[in-house]
Amino acid sequence: MTEKKALLTVPGREPIELPIRSGTLGQDVIDVGGLGSFDYFTFDPGFTSTASCESKITYIDGDQGILLHRGYPIEELAENSDYLETCYLLLNGDLPNAMQKKEFENIITTHTMVNRSIEQFMSGFRYDAHPMAMMCGAVGAMSSFYHDSLDITDPHHRMITAHRLIAKMPTLAAMCYKHYAGQPYMYPRNNLGYAENFLNMMFGTPCETRDVNPVLAKAMDLLFLLHADHEQNASTSTVRLAGSSGANPFSCIAAGIAALWGPSHGGANQAVLEMLNEIGDVKNIDSFVKRAKDKNDPFRLMGFGHRVYKNFDPRAKVMKQACDSVLAELGIDNDPLLKIAKRLEQIALEDDYFVSKKLYPNVDFYSGIIMKAIGIPTEMFTVIFATGRTVGWIAHWSEMISNSYKIGRPRQLYTGEQRRSIVPIKKRK
Ligand code: SDX
Repeated sequence: MTEKKALLTVPGREPIELPIRSGTLGQDVIDVGGLGSFDYFTFDPGFTSTASCESKITYIDGDQGILLHRGYPIEELAENSDYLETCYLLLNGDLPNAMQKKEFENIITTHTMVNRSIEQFMSGFRYDAHPMAMMCGAVGAMSSFYHDSLDITDPHHRMITAHRLIAKMPTLAAMCYKHYAGQPYMYPRNNLGYAENFLNMMFGTPCETRDVNPVLAKAMDLLFLLHADHEQNASTSTVRLAGSSGANPFSCIAAGIAALWGPSHGGANQAVLEMLNEIGDVKNIDSFVKRAKDKNDPFRLMGFGHRVYKNFDPRAKVMKQACDSVLAELGIDNDPLLKIAKRLEQIALEDDYFVSKKLYPNVDFYSGIIMKAIGIPTEMFTVIFATGRTVGWIAHWSEMISNSYKIGRPRQLYTGEQRRSIVPIKKRK
């Protein structure tokens, strides 16, 4: 098949031919890799029109509101799969059969403990340290425990690291919460499922053994699943860029956690809850919507808008259904925050400003309400997001490292001073 080409015409020189490449789904890309040799760079702050890599893991169609993990729609995974099965899918390229699933669950279960010295590490944080600060530190420090398996060129080292991270993130997350709550750490229990184990480490105490409510465990597993991966978002791109220097995977994931923390990204779920609390009553919604539309007011409606989705975020739809069922099963009727959230969504979706800018609820809009119903404190919301997203980060890291890659080194448009010489300080005005 003849290669498609784009023709770039620039003043004073022959047109520049640029190859056009097609993927399995989605937009074609114009390969500008060779543009540097013609003394031009592309300029795209925020990468609004830039494909940074080739990937087979996740596909998003922002206009149609489609999200596929290795080809499987997120709605079908949410309905028929669970988080660990989705982890297997993201890491290995297809869903496991029954035996592979059991084996994978056993591998993850037997890696959930962390080295005891992590407890001393955690004790060094202030009593009220934000759990995301602790997660950044703790995950970055994990590389100091596994010097025997940090050869990134070794597929076995890459896979054992992926297993360790998926297995240990809930343990570390629960330790951050316990440190914050001033309670003793709970150890993982091998007879519990992934989400159930996490909730037991979060809310259990050595004083009594209480069964984890299966409704909450299922909702927790769904939250992890819906956050598992999302193509080349800011934190995943951070992990890839850090990994492109050959840095060890634990420090790359720590970099991803740091990027996720921002309120424009994974920090939005905490900000949504804080915003709903600040709104306080349905009657105050209009004033907040007015502020969100005011160019001179930095306030944005948290949980709305997305760089890619210009339609409903499919995860938000699943999350909204889960909200209704989890709250109903918990007997939390007319949760005031859920009422405000639903009314806010309705008003925003009828308002021309949001309609014209295609601002729809995203994954963070309803997730906080479910997490609050489970009993998760708002400071832990982004930690939950990071725990679920770890498999996506490590799958993208591994995909990059196992294929040919170059160190990421963007250039710039320089608009600073021309070359000039130093004036001796005695002569400076
Ligand atoms: C996540 O990338 C991913 O995939 C991320 C994520 C993942 O799974 O990894 O999906 C998770 O991060 C979801 C997004 C969570 N963030 C929030 O909910 C914070 C609130 N949303 C916004 O900050 C914003 O919508 C972003 C950051 C999400 C997207 O910003 P963009 O794509 O850079 O769009 P933009 O800021 O250029 O906004 C376009 C216009 C602007 O108006 P104009 O300058 O064109 O007049 O829409 C306006 C913005 O002012 N706008 C909003 C708005 N979001 C965008 N106005 C009010 N409220 C908002 N929430």
